[in-house]
Amino acid sequence: MEKHRLNILVLVAILNPLSHFSLSYSFRNCVENPTSNHTRFDCMYRYEQNASAIVADLPPSAKVLNISVCAVSTIPSGSFSHLPNLTVLRLHNKNLSNIDKDAFRNLFQLQIMNLSSNRISYLHPSTFNNLHSITNLLIQDNLLPSLSQAVFADLENLESLILRRNLLSSFSVVVESVAHMSKLTTLDLSFNRLPSLHHKARLPPSLQRLYLGNNRLKTLGCKTDLFSRVKVLDLSYHKNLSSKDFRGLDLGSITYLRLRSTSVNVGELLNVTNLTPQHMDFSGLGLNNSLVKLCKLLRKHVKTHAIRKMILQSNGIHNLSKATFHNCPSFTNILDLSQNELKTTGCLQFLRDHQQLQIIKVEHNHLTKLESCKRTDDLSFPHMKEMSYRYNRILLVSGFAFYHTPNLTNLELNINIIAYLDHKALHGLRNLKNLRLDNNLLTDVYEDSFEDLHSLNTLNLRNNRIAVIFNRTFHSLQKLEILDLGGNKISQLMPEAFSGLSSLTKLYLDRNCLKKIDGDLFGKLHNTLQVLDLEANNIRYSSMFENPPFVKLTKLLDLKLSGQLPRGIAMLPLDFFRGLSSLRSLWLTNNHIAFFGWNTFDDLLSLEFLVLDNSCVGVTQLKPGIFKNLRKLKHLRAKNLGIRSFSREVFGNLTRLEVVYLNHNVMQTLNSTFLEELLNLKYLDVEKCPLSCGCLNTDLQNWTNSTQKVQLAHIYDLKCPDLPNSDFHDFDTKVCYLHIEIYFFASTYSVSLLLTLIPLLYVKLYWKFKYSYYVFRSWFGEQWRRVREQEEDCEYDAFVSYNSEDEKWVLDTLVPNLEGNGSSFRLCLHHRDFELGRDIVDNIVKAVYSSRKTLCVVSQHYLHSEWCSLEIQLASYRMFDELRDVLLLIFLEPIPERQLSAYHRMRRVMLKKTYLQWPGRDCSDPTKAQELFWKKLKRALRSSNNRSREEEEGSKEREEEPQERAEEREHFINERQKDDEPYYLMP
Ligand SMILES: *[C@@H]1O[C@H](CO)[C@@H](O)[C@H](O)[C@H]1NC(C)=O
Ligand SMILES: *[C@@H]1O[C@H](CO)[C@@H](O)[C@H](O)[C@H]1NC(C)=O
Repeated sequence: MEKHRLNILVLVAILNPLSHFSLSYSFRNCVENPTSNHTRFDCMYRYEQNASAIVADLPPSAKVLNISVCAVSTIPSGSFSHLPNLTVLRLHNKNLSNIDKDAFRNLFQLQIMNLSSNRISYLHPSTFNNLHSITNLLIQDNLLPSLSQAVFADLENLESLILRRNLLSSFSVVVESVAHMSKLTTLDLSFNRLPSLHHKARLPPSLQRLYLGNNRLKTLGCKTDLFSRVKVLDLSYHKNLSSKDFRGLDLGSITYLRLRSTSVNVGELLNVTNLTPQHMDFSGLGLNNSLVKLCKLLRKHVKTHAIRKMILQSNGIHNLSKATFHNCPSFTNILDLSQNELKTTGCLQFLRDHQQLQIIKVEHNHLTKLESCKRTDDLSFPHMKEMSYRYNRILLVSGFAFYHTPNLTNLELNINIIAYLDHKALHGLRNLKNLRLDNNLLTDVYEDSFEDLHSLNTLNLRNNRIAVIFNRTFHSLQKLEILDLGGNKISQLMPEAFSGLSSLTKLYLDRNCLKKIDGDLFGKLHNTLQVLDLEANNIRYSSMFENPPFVKLTKLLDLKLSGQLPRGIAMLPLDFFRGLSSLRSLWLTNNHIAFFGWNTFDDLLSLEFLVLDNSCVGVTQLKPGIFKNLRKLKHLRAKNLGIRSFSREVFGNLTRLEVVYLNHNVMQTLNSTFLEELLNLKYLDVEKCPLSCGCLNTDLQNWTNSTQKVQLAHIYDLKCPDLPNSDFHDFDTKVCYLHIEIYFFASTYSVSLLLTLIPLLYVKLYWKFKYSYYVFRSWFGEQWRRVREQEEDCEYDAFVSYNSEDEKWVLDTLVPNLEGNGSSFRLCLHHRDFELGRDIVDNIVKAVYSSRKTLCVVSQHYLHSEWCSLEIQLASYRMFDELRDVLLLIFLEPIPERQLSAYHRMRRVMLKKTYLQWPGRDCSDPTKAQELFWKKLKRALRSSNNRSREEEEGSKEREEEPQERAEEREHFINERQKDDEPYYLMP
């Protein structure tokens, strides 16, 4: 028989390497985006210097390729010629300097090429030959000192050319190289070294945006028609440029001219050019003391008497009076006063003549306070829609601060130091849609803080110091959809905190100090709530038995519970996720969860995206069937979860699974047959898994080489944990077949040897053999008996599991009665018998398994203790696993059935097993009752663990007893409990 099997094995081994059909694939340096249908590839963080080696194994279907943050220094000839469908190529590397003239051969479809942030100092004239489809070329942040005139010759479809932050010193050459492009609209040459704009050729007529700021222009030196078609022109940061350099220039098409930090005088400029003054950005022109003059000038030049955009950033303005803008044409759309030195804007009295204004920006100034505007007579800005006061030093917002702008829709007060927001600060803003108060120092928001904001859609209060959300704080925000309270210090949410929020869909409470999840509170939002973010709070459970907090949130789509501080959620209550039948994504990262109950995820029928990265401690035992209901799950992240085996029993139900991250887990093998059964699997990431390079994984290795279905990402990076200096993808599988040969040889050899020796020995040593045989048999029998004895002979008779609150009863009553008093049971008590320094869980496991029985002293305290529930759980596992009668319950006080019924497992134990009620003081004859109690307890402790066959059959029957009977029985128990008489129910 044995020989036959060997022969077959050898045959299979010889034929197999050829006949294996492979279903997975992987790339040495790249990862395919699993949802991109073989078109998007990221090749990042590689040490490879040669771009062609990085992309060598990519398929011709690749369209979008990102080679970034690699050590790439060279792109050799034809590196991408096998990727003819490439449309986007991003090469974003620090050391790239060397591009072969043929590097981009064949990329006829390429539209976007990004070569930014490299060290390119030379481009061969034919580098971009034949790249006729390119529309966007980005070469910013390189070291190009010059361009060859013909380098862009074939790029006739180019629309945008970004050359900022190079070392270019000839404008003329750039103009010549782009002159033929008929579609070029954007040319960025900022931050180069252009000394002048001298040029021979003309800019393409299509060019609309030209950026020339931060060069070394001392003068312009261009022909007067250079900019005649340009709409957006930036010449800022040239200290030496003055108005006379612009003399006669055709700026007739300009719609936006930026001359920040130049010596241009606006009046002179308007005199010497045909610039339309309302199209100028007046920032950075030192206009602080000449605003009145500017206005007069504008009034003279602006024929329509209206300016849409008035941009006055960085002019050192520190004071605005009613007279300042009095002479200006009327501002109709935006006034931007950011980056000045304003200490106050009053009630916008300086805009008395500009009541049409819609948007005002006063960011990055020195404002400290927004004052009350109730008494500002008739001054009102009914058209004002948006105000931004970001980046100031506002500490106080007074009541009625926006009384004069009642129709605001957007208000940005974020990034200040607002500590006092008056109850009436936002009074009257009935049309406000978006309010940003984030990044301030608010500690309190009141019932009337947001009273008038009936139209508010988004309220951002992130990163303040709010500690309590009082009742009815948001009661009038019926239209609010997004409430962001993240990054505060909220430790308390009053029961009516969210009342009135009848449209809320997204609630962010991350990074606060919440300790518990209040199911009733969130339940009030059940009609609308879709996103609930509770990341990084202080939520922690110490018991498996808590009311499920999300039962009512049947519309919730996204729930984030990651990273609870300081050390994770710890114990995940049973049924925790009950009710979340619409949930699509769940985040549980970084939570040190002790273990997942077998039905934890049962209710999540719609879940598509599950993140469990780093959510447990140590090696996780995911129970078989734990994911049984997640039939819609597509994306599973389980990095560093301590998974030992990616097994069918646990993951087999996830039939829709497409993307799985198993990085940093501890499985040594993957079952390739099982992987094939996951029909939708597209992506499996096994980075940093210790896959063994032994014969166990030969199938898997074959599975990883070439074509089709599943991308096994990072497989080429896997080293063999068991064979130094070898890689998983090509470890030597011949060894496995070699083993069989050796085995084959060895067995044949020994058989023939024995056949020769036995007759010889039989003749010579018959009697000696017989004697030795009997000696051996008696020795073996003795050993066997000892083993059996040891098995029964546990270290302790009982491990006593109790809560520290009940310690007094255990030490004063239980221990003396069982250890002394004529009886001599050996009890294991945690304070006495646990090994110091050993992990508490280990200690409990050891105690349960080295004691014949586990004696649980059940009280209210016990039911709420984390360790005790672990103990009872372990004991019941042992009981179910080994079918041993190990669990004994003592009820120290009557526990109402209502409370018990939550303790599912316990109930099952109760119906089937032994349990004793301690007769308390209120019992009619405590002494007698207690005597009986001790008798029964001792008998139960002495009873054997091993149930007889009869008993087992009996218990099976009972398990199947109809629900009614079970309830009846329970009822009976409770009736008995009422009588408060001791009783002893033996199955
Ligand atoms: C993926 O590509 C294949 C062929 O290349 C095509 O048949 C299929 O429809 C594509 N799937 C998606 C989702 O684009
Ligand atoms: C390249 O693109 C063309 C047109 O989009 C398509 O027909 C062809 O199949 C693609 N080639 C590969 C290898 O995917």
